[in-house]
Amino acid sequence: MADHRFHAPDVPSPSLVVDREALERNIEAMARHAAEASLALRPHGKTHKCPAIATLQVDAGAVGLAVATVGEAEIFGNQGVGDVFVAYPLWADADIGPRLEVLSARVRLTVGADSPAGIERLRRALSDTSLVRVIVEVDCGLRRTGVPPADAASVAHAALDAGFELGGVFTFPGHSYAPGMRDEARTDEERALSEAVEALGAAGIDCPVRSGGSTPTAAATGPGAITELRPGVYVFNDAQQVVLGTCTVDQVALAALATVVSAPAPGRVVLDSGAKVLGPDRPSWAPGHGKLPDHPNARVTGLWEHHAVVDVSETDPSARPRIGDRVAVFPNHVCTAVNLARELLIVSGGKVVDRWAVAAAGANR
Ligand SMILES: Cc1ncc(COP(=O)(O)O)c(C=O)c1O
Repeated sequence: MADHRFHAPDVPSPSLVVDREALERNIEAMARHAAEASLALRPHGKTHKCPAIATLQVDAGAVGLAVATVGEAEIFGNQGVGDVFVAYPLWADADIGPRLEVLSARVRLTVGADSPAGIERLRRALSDTSLVRVIVEVDCGLRRTGVPPADAASVAHAALDAGFELGGVFTFPGHSYAPGMRDEARTDEERALSEAVEALGAAGIDCPVRSGGSTPTAAATGPGAITELRPGVYVFNDAQQVVLGTCTVDQVALAALATVVSAPAPGRVVLDSGAKVLGPDRPSWAPGHGKLPDHPNARVTGLWEHHAVVDVSETDPSARPRIGDRVAVFPNHVCTAVNLARELLIVSGGKVVDRWAVAAAGANR
């Protein structure tokens, strides 16, 4: 028996199914939080890659979208999102410059940068640097991209010298993705943004935008060091967020609806939702490759391209999924699952009420 929220008789298996009401609640809750905290909300579109969902977010008050690639920016921009921030240190090439120029005619366009060399590439790729605004990325503890906050001024100066408008600074507290790390990551984020603002101030540079946010930290982020939040996953949530305690099972709005295609041995069933449906991500702290909301003691112990192996030995034998049953599975990391899908089936009241294209799936450059 599938989780009734995701179950509809006409859903082909495997499919990604969205609980429309849970999706709307997640969008509204984050919009309300941002409004109450006086923060601009700029959801990250890489999670849903879906213009229909971007529209719901903007209608709920989002100032625009964050994206990871120019391809995502083009798809959302061409579908009417008027303000897009490529929150990534773009390394511009001959292909990117003309695409940014075309897009800037209809979209307020901002790009990330974390080096004078990246700024110089961008300057050379564009015929007119006034078409694009730049925001400097600083690192707050993830140790991925972003300069140390104290070094923000060197990148900002390079942007200003090249003729770009400087929007401010951004950071991603992605080290919140480990049990018990939420508060530390949030504090690190605030400290890093404050330090960067100070460094820019000392160099005489204004810093109106201080953009941060991740799904684990967003709901606990208040006004102060940050002016803008960029959570992405919150729109659906996923198995990782349940394990991290960011959300409850009821707040997960997307599941793969899968079928038990094999039950070859006692305590083991196999689903048709393999890595090409659930996505490959499994952090070391995750108990499995996904979560079955109706079978809390079941563990997805193995993932092949087209097989998900589930250990149901801890589930009461009378309640175990049987061959032919439909089950809902939450992906560990919903962004990588959605990127593999062509459409999302929107379910409400036990019926498929809509089908939304994942228009930006695979738009990775
Ligand atoms: C730069 C940047 N901003 C925002 C986000 C959104 O955070 P989350 O995935 O926790 O919702 C991400 C996620 O990877 C990111 O890389």
